[in-house]
Amino acid sequence: MDGRFPTQGAQAPYYLAQGDECQVFAAAYHANLPLLLKGPTGCGKTRFVAHMAARLNRPLYTVACHDDLSAADLIGRYLLKGGETVWMDGPLTRAVREGAICYLDEVVEARKDVAVVLHPLTDDRRMLPIDRTGEELQAAPGFMLVASYNPGYQNILKTLKPSTRQRFLSVEFTFPKPAQEIPVVAQESGLGPEQAALLVRLGGKLRALKGQDLEEGVSTRLVVYAATLIANGMDFHRAIRAAMIEPLTDDPEIRKGLMDVVVAVTG
Ligand SMILES: Nc1ncnc2c1ncn2[C@@H]1O[C@H](COP(=O)(O)OP(=O)(O)O)[C@@H](O)[C@H]1O
Ligand SMILES: [Mg+2]
Repeated sequence: MDGRFPTQGAQAPYYLAQGDECQVFAAAYHANLPLLLKGPTGCGKTRFVAHMAARLNRPLYTVACHDDLSAADLIGRYLLKGGETVWMDGPLTRAVREGAICYLDEVVEARKDVAVVLHPLTDDRRMLPIDRTGEELQAAPGFMLVASYNPGYQNILKTLKPSTRQRFLSVEFTFPKPAQEIPVVAQESGLGPEQAALLVRLGGKLRALKGQDLEEGVSTRLVVYAATLIANGMDFHRAIRAAMIEPLTDDPEIRKGLMDVVVAVTG
């Protein structure tokens, strides 16, 4: 591996790789290319970016996108301060100036004008025009744009346009395989490996029901939550219900069906 990319970050948040995604991220970073992370919610994308930012020794600006997020939220705006108007950089502008990593979480949620802003930044100009101030910022060395989205939530109107998407390298995330998810759950919660394995097995069974009764499967995040509750002393089934069943559905019938699966798997 490249010497500029330490294999172990001194203070990097814990992240267990699913495959070669760390290498792809580092390669994108060194090649000045933006990166798109696809995958369901709660499978480790945000943790991965935090981990890589630490390993690459770059500051990280994370923006949770939502359907009201506008270009100004990313770029910045004039604010009134003690009778004066002062320009305040948004997180994207700050990242461009500092050569930081800017992570747009769930980018398909954002408004259309956001895509327009991203265009000149994602081609080889690496330029951020700020209409309000007339500045044209050249991204500082080390700047990287990373965006994530959950293909399951895409509706036709919000689908990333090919013209936007083809500017990014892309990595697909899935829920980790049991051999990875068990150590992740144990590490994150402090629960022993045997109980962690049981929860992971249950998570897999519940995930398999996705599409029939459930819109979303149990995420690794929810398995970690259940494990944390149990590690902190909560009754096993109570914790599973609170963390792995209730968040998935409001339908009492479906909930009952899911609890039957729980009893079948865990006894
Ligand atoms: N590969 C992994 N390594 C370490 N922790 C993980 C991993 N995958 C999932 N997790 C755990 O799952 C939680 C949710 O992951 P997160 O990165 O927030 O998901 P996403 O951004 O994909 O919605 C994390 O806080 C962490 O506890
Ligand atoms: Mg996330």
